[in-house]
This record gives sequence, C-alpha cells and structure tokens, in this order.
Amino acid sequence: MKILILNGPNLNLLGKREPSIYGNLTFEEFFKNLQKRYADVELHYFQSNVEGELINKLHEVGFSFDGIILNAGAYTHTSVAIGDAIKGIETPVIEVHISNVHAREDFRHVSYIAPNAKGVIAGFGLQSYELALISFL
Ligand code: DQA
Repeated sequence: MKILILNGPNLNLLGKREPSIYGNLTFEEFFKNLQKRYADVELHYFQSNVEGELINKLHEVGFSFDGIILNAGAYTHTSVAIGDAIKGIETPVIEVHISNVHAREDFRHVSYIAPNAKGVIAGFGLQSYELALISFL
C-alpha cells in the first residue's frame, strides 16, 4: 500500500509555528514515528510552500498511489487549481487539518478540497494524519 502525505504552505514550520494551535512537534519527528508504527505501509512525505509544486506532486502520484493525505494549509481556502487537480487524478484524497478549521475564522470554513475529497478530518492535532491513514487500511 502506497500512501503520500502532502503538506502545503507553512507546515514546514511545525514545532515553531503558533505552538498553541499547531503543537510543539516537528512534522519530521511525527512522520518518522508514524513510519515505524505503520511499517507495512509505504509511506511517503512531501511538503512545499509553492502551489504549483503541490499540483505537480498530485499529478505525479495520482495514478499509481493508493491514497493521498493532504493538508493544503491556507491553499485549502483559496486554491481552485488544487481542487481541480484532485478532480483530475484517480487516487483518493483525504483532506486533513491539525486545527479545527470550523471553530476558527470564517475564511477557514471554505474548502476547495473538500468537494473533491473522499473525506475530511480536522481538529485532532497531528493525529488527524494518523486517522486519515487508518481509514485507507
Ligand atoms: C491548517 C489550517 C489552515 O487554515 C491554515 O492555513 C494552515 C494549517 C491546519 O492544519 O490546521 O496552514 O491547514
């Protein structure tokens, strides 16, 4: 089983960025631990702050991988292009968020990912990624 975790803008700053919302752990630490605990899964990870690079990655894996766990960060709320990319690929995408976006500012209630996603998981900290992963198993 091949799964990609795809993180968008500012998620490279996890551990340093607004820790009261996003926690103290870096994504690399969390990812290594996840890989150990789900050793049967071929887990891949890619992060970019650039919208087009996220789209390129979706195209690259979107016809061969079994699942994509996508936290598009703020692009969730703005990117028609990422929404269209998800429509155009075959691999199912689960939208995840660390924070509960529905309990935050109004602009975070809009998602261009959700209408094209298999499901949405938000508000469980980094565990949101693990819950998405389990749903593919
Ligand atoms: C986020 C929520 C987004 O609104 C925000 O722009 C992020 C992180 C989350 O994981 O909670 O960058 O996707």
